[in-house]
Amino acid sequence: MKSRKLLMIPGPIEFESEVMQCMAVPTPSHVNPDFISVFSNSLKLLKAVCQSESGQAFIVAGTGTLAMDMAAANLIETGDKALVISTGYFGLRFAEILKRYGADVDILEAQVGDIVSMEHIEEQLKSKKYKLLTFTHVDTSTAVLNNVKSIGALGKKYNVLTVLDGVCSVAGEEIKQEAWGIDVVVTASQKAVGVPPGLALLVASQNAMKTFEQRKNPVANYYGDWANWLPIMKAYENKQASYFGTPPVNLIMALEKSLQLIVNEGLNNRFARHQRAGKAMRAAIRALGLELLSKNEAVASNTLTAPLYPSKIDAATFLKETNQQGIIFAGGLLPELKTKYFRIGHMGSVNKADLLATIGAIETVLKNNGSKHELGVGTAEILKHF
Ligand SMILES: Cc1ncc(COP(=O)(O)O)c(C=O)c1O
Repeated sequence: MKSRKLLMIPGPIEFESEVMQCMAVPTPSHVNPDFISVFSNSLKLLKAVCQSESGQAFIVAGTGTLAMDMAAANLIETGDKALVISTGYFGLRFAEILKRYGADVDILEAQVGDIVSMEHIEEQLKSKKYKLLTFTHVDTSTAVLNNVKSIGALGKKYNVLTVLDGVCSVAGEEIKQEAWGIDVVVTASQKAVGVPPGLALLVASQNAMKTFEQRKNPVANYYGDWANWLPIMKAYENKQASYFGTPPVNLIMALEKSLQLIVNEGLNNRFARHQRAGKAMRAAIRALGLELLSKNEAVASNTLTAPLYPSKIDAATFLKETNQQGIIFAGGLLPELKTKYFRIGHMGSVNKADLLATIGAIETVLKNNGSKHELGVGTAEILKHF
């Protein structure tokens, strides 16, 4: 019997074997001509995945939090007004980061499982002149999906820089960065981008780069300063090596491979595949009698699902027994609801077989703990969607 378990958490995810093979090859020099070409292509492909032809891409060793930190450090100066539209844990993290760089931060916080209405956001933008707003595409703590296109349009209307946390959405949920007027998209490697953890990824619009260039004061973060990284990205784009900090060579080779697979799949096909997986998972969970944290289908993300535990079973028992069934889930992340819900990641390489195995494990554990559902009602929903 295979001892390997299926990792169904919202990042890191199960990675494609072709991507993992890039991690295992002997590490070339970061100035090796073949690697220069890999880096150059990765920058190009990252912009293609964010659908930002004229943007400036950054690929830096770090995590998604570093990407958030870099956006804030490079665009905020002490006293700047910033608006955070928060749909959970990661929205509040962005507020903390912005404050570190001296921003005067207002937070519009959604009710758990919901988004902030466009009317409410517009009212706030009318009431005060902000330099920048941040919002989370998919908040991984709530599985809530924001309306990126509409918030991008509000940013343009009120001349506010828009910064999208796309850590749990890029390459899984549709983003048309340029067409939707999003100034910065930040993401990381370990979720729908499909590469082991360790890369902070950003694409900044020319508008954002101009704001950076017009700063009055130096950036208060040495490692994240775009003044240090921009020449490096430009050099690699132009097929030349340059050094500021040693690039994580194998991770970038893996990134090129994964981004190429994503582009080859076709962005629209990929988004449709994630939508199908999301719909199937939500339908299966409901068929088992569980409720979801996301309030309705319109705000439900397609990269992860967050079901509430039924009253008969506690968090520790559920996570232990599903693990024994071969599936690994993540517990709740919102501190106040930590033991009330769990999270199922379904992005990147996830397929019908993974979804069936996942729901099969949930059905079994619920049944073993007194649930009255008929075995097979959850898996039937997955089959109906594929
Ligand atoms: C929406 C969102 N933003 C930011 C982060 C932070 O990314 P990292 O853990 O790579 O620092 C995460 C991580 O899960 C996330 O899901």
